[in-house]
Amino acid sequence: MSTVLALETSCDESAAAIVSGRRVLAGAVASQMEEHARWGGVVPEIASRRHVEALPALIAQVLEQSGLAMADLDAIAATVAPGLAGALLVGSVTARTLARLHGKPFLGVHHLEGHLCSVHLGEPLPEGPYLVLLVSGGHTELVKVEAPGSYLRLGRSRDDAAGECFDKVARLLGLGYPGGPAIEAAALDGDPGRFRFPKGRVSLPQGGFHPYDFSFSGLKTAVLRQVQTLSRQAGSLPVADLAASFEEVVAEVLVERSCRCAVEAGLQTIVLVGGVAANRRLRRHMSEATAARGLGWRVAPLAYCTDNAAMVGLAAIERFDAGGRSGIALGVAARLPL
Ligand code: KG4
Ligand code: ZN
Repeated sequence: MSTVLALETSCDESAAAIVSGRRVLAGAVASQMEEHARWGGVVPEIASRRHVEALPALIAQVLEQSGLAMADLDAIAATVAPGLAGALLVGSVTARTLARLHGKPFLGVHHLEGHLCSVHLGEPLPEGPYLVLLVSGGHTELVKVEAPGSYLRLGRSRDDAAGECFDKVARLLGLGYPGGPAIEAAALDGDPGRFRFPKGRVSLPQGGFHPYDFSFSGLKTAVLRQVQTLSRQAGSLPVADLAASFEEVVAEVLVERSCRCAVEAGLQTIVLVGGVAANRRLRRHMSEATAARGLGWRVAPLAYCTDNAAMVGLAAIERFDAGGRSGIALGVAARLPL
């Protein structure tokens, strides 16, 4: 059973973990969210600097927690794509330097492969291929997983990612950053049926609509228009109802298209991963819709939905055990499809 030290620095969380087989021996995350919240979103330059400051202590912490020394590790891994280039470089250079120093193999991991693997940190999945709905701040994808490392994308967002849409709508409603948890909290007392927002669709050149693709930019505009109309009227903005109605339509559209995709592709299980998978309304809709169609569903453990290094470690172990190694000169890429 292989043991790796993994680093994750693709955005605004600095994270380190030690994973052995499918067990997380130690994990630590230093969030920079409060600092970025002051600016209403992630500032790349600040993110890189904070990663540089945070990583040494995080690495020391996970080594101590796990009771392991560098000599006990089989490999060292880091996220190398996609993400903020400067931020990715901090994790990657740190991991490659440690690998060189301690004579260990290095593995560069794709961030989305990390998210896909995060579900394996929870309950075991049923046998056979399954459909993953990956919903994060940067991506909204429907991916068929045949086997570890064998991925087929069946659907995606053509514009904003679902999490990005949460963040933008939260800003519009004055709810701050990150938007997902803020909208979820504000929506608790809201009426999800008060406003009817559109379920964006993607037209096909031959007519009709793409059955599994998403479009969230129109939804964001529709919320903006509604806010502008309401602002011209007397009284305060019904933020709870707006947040609940927005959250409702996002959950509906994600669940409807995932279920249709799973049924038509003959897949029995839908797996929910990524930051937006933390959303309770989305989980509730997924649970009800899959039950109604006789499908199964799983979600990554809550702590591993948002960015973390344990999922990167798991993805690295799968590659390492299959003989995969990365060159010590491997670069980073801000954009890279899975
Ligand atoms: O996976 P993640 O941590 O980072 C990326 O790889 O992007 O996802 C972050 C995204 C943010 O857009 C955040 O607003 C969203 O996940 N998010 C949520 C919730 N928690 C985080 N969206 C909806 N509901 C939540 N509870
Ligand atoms: Zn992520």
